[in-house]
Amino acid sequence: MSNYEIPAGLKELLQGYTVQVIRNRPADLVEFAVQHFTQILENQKNDKTVKKLDSKAARKGVTFATNSDETESTRDEKEEEEKPVKPTTGKCNRRVSVCAEPYNPDDDNDDDQPEPRVVHPKTDEQRRRLQDACKDILLFKTLEQEQFSEVLDAMFEVQVKPQEHIIDQGDDGDNFYVIERGVYNILVAKEGVSVCVGQYDNKGSFGELALMYNTPRAATIVATQEGALWGLDRATFHRLIVKNNAKKRRMYEAFVECVPLLKSLELSERMKIVDVLAARSFKDGERIIAQGDEADCFYMVESGQVRIMIKSKTKAGQRDDTEVEVARCSRGQYFGELALVNNKPRAASVYAVGETKCLVIDIQAFERLLGPCKEIMKRNISQYEDQLVALFGSSVDLKH
Ligand code: CMP
Ligand code: CMP
Repeated sequence: MSNYEIPAGLKELLQGYTVQVIRNRPADLVEFAVQHFTQILENQKNDKTVKKLDSKAARKGVTFATNSDETESTRDEKEEEEKPVKPTTGKCNRRVSVCAEPYNPDDDNDDDQPEPRVVHPKTDEQRRRLQDACKDILLFKTLEQEQFSEVLDAMFEVQVKPQEHIIDQGDDGDNFYVIERGVYNILVAKEGVSVCVGQYDNKGSFGELALMYNTPRAATIVATQEGALWGLDRATFHRLIVKNNAKKRRMYEAFVECVPLLKSLELSERMKIVDVLAARSFKDGERIIAQGDEADCFYMVESGQVRIMIKSKTKAGQRDDTEVEVARCSRGQYFGELALVNNKPRAASVYAVGETKCLVIDIQAFERLLGPCKEIMKRNISQYEDQLVALFGSSVDLKH
C-alpha cells in the first residue's frame, strides 16, 4: 500500500501548475512545466532572502496593534519602520516575484507565528468614508465582524491622478483596492493589443486575483480622472480574505456542483466562482431587483424561491404599474443575467418568496468567469421572449 502513498506537497505543486496553465494557456505544456518548476526551485533557493525583503516591504508605512516584549534592537528597527511613509499604489516597493508559489486556500498557518496586525490610523471622517466604500464589497461580505474590523484597520488611503496606472498587467500583486471615487478602465492585452474590457464607475474593487492565486496581474487598471482608493496590503489580504476562501469553498462547493448552468465549466473555474461570490439573505416579499434599475450583479438561488414580475403594457404600448408574474426560480437556478449580457437596465423585478438566500457575483467576475456559459444563457433568454409573447401578445426582443 505504501507504494501508492502520495508524497506531501505533490497535490499543491500540481495544483499550482494547473492554475498557471489555465491562466497562461501556454502552447507547449512541457516547456511551460520546465519554466514553472525551475521558477519554484529558484524561489525556494531565494526563500530566505525573499521572506526578509517581503516582511520589510509589507511593513513599510504601517504601525502595529500589539506591543509585546521588545528588545532594544527590535525597537530601533520598528521605530525606523514606523516613520510615516505616505502610502502609494506601491509601485516602488513591489514584491520580489513569488508568482510560482502554488495556491491552496486550505493552507492553514495557524501553527505558525501570528503575523503582526497592520493598522493605519484614521480620522473619524476617513473611517466613515472607508466604511461607505466597503459596504457593498462582495469579498468582505463573508467575513466575521472581527475580521472585517481588522481589514478596515489595515486599509490605507490612496489619492489617484488622471491617467495613473494603478495596476499593470504582468506585474506581481502588492495590494487589493476598493474604489471610493473615480472611473477606472480595465485593459487586457489580447494578441499584443491592449483592449478595454470594462470600467469601474465610482464603486467596486479590483486587484484580488494576483493576491488570491499568486499569479501576475491579469489586467491593467488606469484612472481616467482624479480619484481615491483604499488599499489593502497583500499579507493582510492573504491572512484574512484568502483564508476565508477555504471556508467558503467548503460551504459552497457542493452547491455550485448542482447548478446546471455551471456544469460546462471546469472544476477549477467553478471554484473561482466560489472564491468571489457572496451570500445575501432576503425576507419574504423583499425586492431583490427592481425593473428599470442599472445592473451590477448576477444571482443564483441557494435556498427559498424568487418570483419574477414584469410590468404589463397597456394597449397603447405604454407601461402600466401592474406587475405580472412571469416565472419563479428556486435552488440552483439563476436570474439577473439578462441586463448584464445585454448591457441594458433590469428587464423585470424580482421578489423573495419566503426566506430566501442568494449567492451573488459582481459584473466584473461575471464577465471574467461566466463567459463560457453565455451561450446557455442566451438560449434561455429566447425562452423569456416566448413567455412574454404568451403573456402580453406582442413580440418582444429582449436582446436589443
Ligand atoms: P489582478 O489580476 O490582481 O489585477 C488586475 C485586476 O483587474 C484583477 O485582479 C481583477 O480584479 C480586475 N479585472 C476586472 N476585469 C478583469 C478581466 N476581465 N480580466 C482580468 N482581470 C480583471
Ligand atoms: P435582468 O433583466 O438582469 O433582471 C431581471 C431578471 O428576471 C432577468 O435578468 C432574468 O434573469 C429574469 N427573468 C426571468 N424571466 C424573465 C422574462 N420573461 N423576461 C425578463 N426577465 C426574466
